[in-house]
Amino acid sequence: MSAQPNSNMFVPAAPEARAIAEAFTLSLIVCAVIFVFVVGIVGYALIKNRAKPGTGEPPQVYGNHKLEVTLTVIPFLICVALFIVSWRTANAAAPDPGDAEPDVIARGHQWWWEFEYPKENFRAAYEMHLPLGRPALVRVESFDVIHDFWVPALTRKIDAIPGHPNHVTITPEQLGRFEGTCAEFCGTQHAWMRFQVVVDSPADYATWVAAQRRPAAVPTTPIQLQGYELFSKYTCGNCHSIAGTPFDSARIAPDLTHIGSRAALGGGLIPQNLYTIMAWMGGTQAIKPGCHMPTFPLTNAELAAIANYLGALQ
Ligand code: CUA
Repeated sequence: MSAQPNSNMFVPAAPEARAIAEAFTLSLIVCAVIFVFVVGIVGYALIKNRAKPGTGEPPQVYGNHKLEVTLTVIPFLICVALFIVSWRTANAAAPDPGDAEPDVIARGHQWWWEFEYPKENFRAAYEMHLPLGRPALVRVESFDVIHDFWVPALTRKIDAIPGHPNHVTITPEQLGRFEGTCAEFCGTQHAWMRFQVVVDSPADYATWVAAQRRPAAVPTTPIQLQGYELFSKYTCGNCHSIAGTPFDSARIAPDLTHIGSRAALGGGLIPQNLYTIMAWMGGTQAIKPGCHMPTFPLTNAELAAIANYLGALQ
């Protein structure tokens, strides 16, 4: 990976996120000015009107119509202005999707994100690719408990609620990687429910989609073949599917058809390579305690064989 992925809501790379950053900054400035003003006049009054020795009860002043009206109308107008800003932001950040078919279904699982592309008919995990400049409609769903989909530099937060799909749009304006995360506590590994949005040029995006649609690479070397046999023997396919093999129907755990092309494993916890695949399978519960994949008591040779098979699934 080259540059650090953008995870900064103040450096927006899509109009949906920019609307939020601008509304937030404006509200912050307005509130800061009010805070400084109020603290300032309270401080001034405290110092200016301190009781002096020898003076008794200060003169009691009641009611000042002009002042009271002014001090009611100004905050009211500020609230109305901020309401209008919020209203416009809500419309810009979350346009009504209507009946449109989603481009991507982002599905929260304990504790990873699945990205299904219903129009192209494949399922990825951890990385959601989008083409530059085209508005993408993302339907946010949950497989189990309530999660929350958030890519700070690209769009608003939205809850992933079981049985109640929500929608966000993302119109990416910059190439690159954008960090996303689950923003709703959802169990022990909530913190490791990260994902990345990868914004590609339209040509690179088409290449990625074509690659994802292809069935899994067929094992060719002896160690890959051995890995495939072990994958079958240890019933990995009960949870993970690999398109183009008999194990293509499980929907519980990440689809592994192209696991070798992903940047990370375990919801962003470790980078993806041969050694981390071995480490993950041999020590899942040590690496990500509480996650739904058990640690498999495999020998190093078995781990190496399966990792060689999976790593080749580009
Ligand atoms: Cu899923 Cu927090």
